[in-house]
Amino acid sequence: MEQHLWGIPNMDVYLVMGILVFFIILEVVGGYWENTKRSSSDWIQEFGAFLILSLVIKPGIVLAAILLGGQFFPETQYVLGAWSFVALLFVYLLIDDFLQYWYHRAAHEYPFLWKLHRPHHQAEEMGFFVSYRNAALYYLIMPNVWWVGIMTFLGGGLVVAVGLVLKQLIIISSHSTMVYDKYLYRNRWLAPLATVWERIFITPAFHHAHHGKTQLDGISEPNGNFGNMFSLWDQMFGTAHYTREFPTAYGLPNDPKDHWTAAYLYPVVKSDLPHSEISKGYHKQDQRKNEPTTVQLKEGEYYLFCQCGFSQNQPFCDGSHHGTHFKPLRFQARKSGPARLCACKRTGAAPFCDDSHQQ
Ligand code: FES
Repeated sequence: MEQHLWGIPNMDVYLVMGILVFFIILEVVGGYWENTKRSSSDWIQEFGAFLILSLVIKPGIVLAAILLGGQFFPETQYVLGAWSFVALLFVYLLIDDFLQYWYHRAAHEYPFLWKLHRPHHQAEEMGFFVSYRNAALYYLIMPNVWWVGIMTFLGGGLVVAVGLVLKQLIIISSHSTMVYDKYLYRNRWLAPLATVWERIFITPAFHHAHHGKTQLDGISEPNGNFGNMFSLWDQMFGTAHYTREFPTAYGLPNDPKDHWTAAYLYPVVKSDLPHSEISKGYHKQDQRKNEPTTVQLKEGEYYLFCQCGFSQNQPFCDGSHHGTHFKPLRFQARKSGPARLCACKRTGAAPFCDDSHQQ
């Protein structure tokens, strides 16, 4: 039995389209689309990926889940139909977002998933269409897209429709250049509301920090802020980073600018740029050494110390840690002059050498 929002077929789709149009208007009025430096490759990846996700991948997965469910678990179809709408919506959204938090986090910590998610972080400008910029395979194996299909099969179609609209509202607004939350932070009457809001939901400041190019700015945290709708998971699992400020640069520090076909269709299509992570036969070279590297530091300056050992700019980070469990260490030099920084990455006094390499 198909269920419709307010009795109108496909109403959830119309609402999501309405949210998109709303943000298009805001960004156009805000002058963003006039001043954008996006290349045609960026537009293809963002708009094209949105169309394919919405018209092919998501409906295909929902249909597949319903057919598989009917084939193998026919007795469970519509089993949740008697649940209260509010309770089911709550459960649906929490499970959906929990799955997506861990999938997104894994996409930053495991090399294969990182290569599928990397196009999302190659965007050098924010904008709501960035939300959909990932390789096709990233969405095909995304657990919470399958969760949408499972819930629909179990009788939660209406809950899925409402949940989709609510979630898209948060996700699209957190990627948009129209950053509503900065008005909340500045207004002393609204600031308490902002504190409660950002502890529950993902705000633009929270998510923009995730897209920042480098932690050197003290705002960006590409190795944290993984949440999509709720910020609860980041707080629970120690990956939340709140500054209420916005990075000045977005993207990847070592972006080789792959052709969009490789970015979107990896691993079927690989990049023809030999230094690209998604080129054939590419693997990261271990750059660790058994002796410290002496560098000149300048008092008061911030540096990013490489902890993964893959940076080609040792002992500093060049972004090669993406797709691993490591992240760089940001530190401020206390005095000017030479310093022995660890190159074996076994020091207990990072970033400085403690002679662990001799053990
Ligand atoms: S390159 Fe960033 S931590 Fe190694």
